[in-house]
Amino acid sequence: MFSRLFSCLSVFLATSILITPTTAIWPAPQSFTNGSSVLYLNQNIRVTYNGAFIPYTYGYVPSSFSSKEFVQAGVSRTLAGIFDSKFVPWILHKPGAKYEPNPLAEGLKWLKTLQIIQTSEDKPSAFKPLAGEVDESYNLTISVEGDVKLTAVSSIGVLRGLETFSQLFYQHSAGTFWYTPFAPVAIEDAPKFPHRGILMDTSRHFFPVEDILRTIDAMAMSKLNRLHVHVTDSQSWPLVIPALPEVSEKGAHHPSETYSPADIERIQKYGAYRGVEVYFEIDMPGHIGSVALSHPELIVAYNEQPYHWWCAQPPCGAFKLNNTAVDEFLETLFDDLFPRLVPYSAYFHTGGDELNKNDSMLDEGIRSNSSEVLQPLLQKFIDTQHSRVRDAKLTPVVWEEIPLEWNVTLGKDTVVQAWLGGDSVKKLTAKGHKVIDSNYNFWYLDCGRGQWLNWANGPAFQLGFPFNDWCGPTKSWRLVYSHDPTAGLTPEEAKLVLGGEVALWAETIDPINFDTIAWPRASVAGEVLWSGRTDASGQNRSQIEAAPRLNEFRERLVKKGVRASPITQAFCVQGEPWECEFAPA
Ligand SMILES: *[C@@H]1O[C@H](CO)[C@@H](O)[C@H](O)[C@H]1NC(C)=O
Ligand SMILES: *[C@@H]1O[C@H](CO)[C@@H](O)[C@H](O)[C@H]1NC(C)=O
Ligand SMILES: *[C@@H]1O[C@H](CO)[C@@H](O)[C@H](O)[C@H]1NC(C)=O
Ligand SMILES: *[C@@H]1O[C@H](CO)[C@@H](O)[C@H](O)[C@H]1NC(C)=O
Ligand SMILES: *[C@@H]1O[C@H](CO)[C@@H](O)[C@H](O)[C@H]1NC(C)=O
Ligand SMILES: *[C@@H]1O[C@H](CO)[C@@H](O)[C@H](O)[C@H]1NC(C)=O
Ligand SMILES: *[C@@H]1O[C@H](CO)[C@@H](O)[C@H](O)[C@H]1NC(C)=O
Repeated sequence: MFSRLFSCLSVFLATSILITPTTAIWPAPQSFTNGSSVLYLNQNIRVTYNGAFIPYTYGYVPSSFSSKEFVQAGVSRTLAGIFDSKFVPWILHKPGAKYEPNPLAEGLKWLKTLQIIQTSEDKPSAFKPLAGEVDESYNLTISVEGDVKLTAVSSIGVLRGLETFSQLFYQHSAGTFWYTPFAPVAIEDAPKFPHRGILMDTSRHFFPVEDILRTIDAMAMSKLNRLHVHVTDSQSWPLVIPALPEVSEKGAHHPSETYSPADIERIQKYGAYRGVEVYFEIDMPGHIGSVALSHPELIVAYNEQPYHWWCAQPPCGAFKLNNTAVDEFLETLFDDLFPRLVPYSAYFHTGGDELNKNDSMLDEGIRSNSSEVLQPLLQKFIDTQHSRVRDAKLTPVVWEEIPLEWNVTLGKDTVVQAWLGGDSVKKLTAKGHKVIDSNYNFWYLDCGRGQWLNWANGPAFQLGFPFNDWCGPTKSWRLVYSHDPTAGLTPEEAKLVLGGEVALWAETIDPINFDTIAWPRASVAGEVLWSGRTDASGQNRSQIEAAPRLNEFRERLVKKGVRASPITQAFCVQGEPWECEFAPA
């Protein structure tokens, strides 16, 4: 109905000589039509939420976890974000192009109302949902008369719709005008997958809270909704556990490189307000060597050499698998940590990747590297720790090796994170596991930048040359975009894929280069996860259609203070899409 109406309008409006930027919402809405009328936005727009007036207040932070508070803060961020964006789209146009409306000659037609209607009450789980527990869909219309209507089932859907709304606006080069050249607009939108995430690794390098908050901002812009913090590993333990203060005191890289309980709460709340659930991973029983610095009696193989007999990278270290002191340590740790996480998280990740069987050779209580001996011990370890996770009202997540390599039986609720590619997702879903996909061939964004290990002159040099890392090549945005987490699955198997995460393992990433490596490629995976790998007609989404939108979205990220990398040269950003195709039709 809308599209017929708008095709009539487009004939009528075709006389306009204004060259507009592309309509560049990222990720692409499921359905979108636009016109070519210009509407201006100012601070007098009247915003209502289910009929009640909502004031717009700069810097408004929710005073409680309530739908109205979340929406009021969302409206405030959205309007402030538009007014502060400084995004004049000259950068998208060839010099000399008339890209802007002329308010003096054409007059100003203002947006009058923004009517927000939430059609259902939020369940408490809306603010820390399990996959599928919150409906993020929304519809958005803007009439040529200047009335905006945003409907959504949940307050999180309202936030998604507000983000889309803000991406329709530009700042005028004359300064104090903000406009959309796309009225009327009609959008219907909903995500394809409920779990759309990023993995940050705060053990190989520490990331100050501000860097994590900026990451959450960019995630919300990209409609990504899960921040998985791989908070500890063998390299460092930045997480302060008040019941075990020695662990971070000895295990952090530096006393300043720690997250206090207040830091963790700040990060989680900041995410929740933006519909980004922050959940944590303490990787175990491998990848836990940093505990040896405070509790050497619990750990085997810490800093053992040559490291590659004991783990994938130095300094190694795994929990003793048949030791009651390990269990007591974890009980104290979890009793301290889980009650603080659970108000804002539905999940807790217990890791489980890359456990090297040799480690238990050094365990005086085991002295074996045989699967037959180790498998039952690992099963018991996981059962015990996962029942603690469940007792705290969290849902466990593990890496794929736990079920696929170790044949550990997991609870039905447990989510398995796939990363090894090949047919991992197929094997896991065929066994009935819920899966999030982080296939390293596509979605490991740290890959392809060379080795971090050093190679001695002589045979080692020859062996290492040309010093590529294990997972190259670099995953270009086009490669990231080509990945469909449900490729090759039956419809039943595909239903078990909750979504995916891009990973930013931090061996050679710290706050200095994180943004340029993460963005905009994480947003590209965000589009696959929100909009789907294929479009409404079932065709693969096109790089040629996507590139101009991604160029514009990248500019929006940059204006927000996110140091997102360019995806092409300025000539192509300012050009027509066909100019930079490999084989123009
Ligand atoms: C929608 O916006 C695009 C700019 O991306 C413009 O070229 C097109 O004419 C608009 N559609 C209509 C129907 O006006
Ligand atoms: C969006 O519009 C479609 C079609 O009218 C309707 O089925 C759907 O329920 C609407 N969604 C919301 C969140 O209002
Ligand atoms: C275990 O250690 C032996 C040497 O004792 C080594 O040959 C083997 O490759 C190691 N296994 C793994 C999985 O690293
Ligand atoms: C694990 O520990 C228990 C109790 O100390 C012991 O009886 C058992 O033999 C150990 N299992 C293995 C595989 O070493
Ligand atoms: C187990 O240890 C033996 C003796 O060191 C070694 O030869 C073998 O490769 C190890 N097995 C694994 C799976 O690492
Ligand atoms: C898991 O099962 C597979 C297939 O039966 C087997 O090859 C593998 O050795 C088992 N792994 C362990 C650790 O028991
Ligand atoms: C669509 O993308 C898939 C990979 O996701 C690729 O294998 C296939 O060749 C593409 N189809 C076309 C027509 O390009």
